[in-house]
Amino acid sequence: MNRKALIKEYPDYNKYVDNIFEAGQTHVFKWWNDISPPEKKRLLEQIASINFQFVRKLFNDSFKKTTQTTKGSLVPPQIITIPKNTSEKDVAQKARQIGEDALRKGEIAVLTVAGGHGTRLGADGPKGTLPIAPISSKSIFQLHAEKIRATQQKYQTCIPWYIMTSETNDLVTQTFFQTNQFFGLDPRQVCFFTQGMLPAVDFQGNLLMDSKSNIVMSPNGHGGTIIALKEKGILEDMERRGIKIIFYHQVDNVLIKIVDPVFIGYHLRDRAEMSLKVVKKCRPEEKVGVVVCINGSLHIVEYSELSRDEMYARNENGTLKYNAGSIAVHIISIDFLEKVHQKGEGLPYHAAVKKVSCLDGNGNIINPEKNNAIKFESFIFDVLKYVKKGVVMEVLREDEFSPVKNMEGENSPATARQDLINLFGRWLRSAGISIPTDSQGNVVGLIEISPCFALEEEELKSKIDKHLQFNGNLHL
Ligand code: UD1
Repeated sequence: MNRKALIKEYPDYNKYVDNIFEAGQTHVFKWWNDISPPEKKRLLEQIASINFQFVRKLFNDSFKKTTQTTKGSLVPPQIITIPKNTSEKDVAQKARQIGEDALRKGEIAVLTVAGGHGTRLGADGPKGTLPIAPISSKSIFQLHAEKIRATQQKYQTCIPWYIMTSETNDLVTQTFFQTNQFFGLDPRQVCFFTQGMLPAVDFQGNLLMDSKSNIVMSPNGHGGTIIALKEKGILEDMERRGIKIIFYHQVDNVLIKIVDPVFIGYHLRDRAEMSLKVVKKCRPEEKVGVVVCINGSLHIVEYSELSRDEMYARNENGTLKYNAGSIAVHIISIDFLEKVHQKGEGLPYHAAVKKVSCLDGNGNIINPEKNNAIKFESFIFDVLKYVKKGVVMEVLREDEFSPVKNMEGENSPATARQDLINLFGRWLRSAGISIPTDSQGNVVGLIEISPCFALEEEELKSKIDKHLQFNGNLHL
């Protein structure tokens, strides 16, 4: 493509055309003569949105082996463990009261990150729209919405819900909420915002195209939340509504205890800036980030960046040394986020090598069998480097962590459904109702308890008919 001819045809894009020529990425114009004027315009718009120097830097940095942000040896963090005796239960109860007070005052907002592509899941549509409830087939989004509704009712409060999407799934996510009348929430309390996008590149640093007029772009990681919260005016909106802390979680965890008052209470009691929930890792290779201390401050080392020695390190009693698996549930104080913005430094980017469908030199789409591309993502938990005070709270996996990551096998819709049924089964059993299990400990039969009926075990106990006979199918 001739630079002068291009600028003559689209003078408004002069600067951007210069940028792409200087960056040596002119192959994106290879099919310029085959595409329509609107497609040409769209391609130029896309080019205008890309900072080529930055992409080049990310690519060059991706060869510097590790992105682990702080060097130093890892130390297991201090953790608030699951209460075992009456005095520990009393401490948790006090924390709950603090959290409940904050909820009543309307100081908490929920932030759900739902901008990912869900590549491993490979489902059509955003993860949150996946039908998941065992009997009603309610979507993941609906389960979250009902938990928010039930909590509002319980504490006579309003909990604003911010949902981060990306350009690729924003419209379909918002349409899903509209079609379902926001699942009974007030539309004014649900706010969508999009994160930034970055191009994927091949192993030479060249941009990839997935059509003759489209550069492959991908969400910039959930670390993009930090920038988007400020740039999209979300922090301001939160402050206007009197929000003090954000309850942050990933869309994919069906057992999530949204705005858990005990967790909030510990965070507030300790005047923490960012707090994290963890479970014991189920095996060394489990794909969860590990919460550790490095040089005295909290960090999450992502599973892909944990060395083999660290992954398999054991204590003298045989337990895993780095055992605090992050379930990606955080509380973040607004004041702290403001401080982070004032520093004006960005979060580091991590390079992920992936399979990305793209055009070959002849303009035919290829679905590669091997990894062919690098995507760049920043991680929200890298903001921990600024945290002076954080709380790490341990929770039971079976009560609070069942993410949907894959279509089949581990962490799939099937395991998520069974985990929900098992949780409800335990609640019912503790209310005195007999619930059969198989040899693996899974409930035999189907159970679904709507968050609007009971949000937790104690609430169920107070409402349930103690003489109820479980006949293999129970929907409350
Ligand atoms: C993630 C965590 C891991 C944690 C595990 C718990 C990261 C990098 N790692 O791993 O430490 O133990 O979950 O389940 O997050 N998302 C966006 N925008 C993006 C990318 C992702 O909103 O640009 C959202 C996704 O929609 C999803 C979540 O972030 O809700 C997690 O992304 P995913 O790629 O599934 O992370 P994991 O590798 O499973």
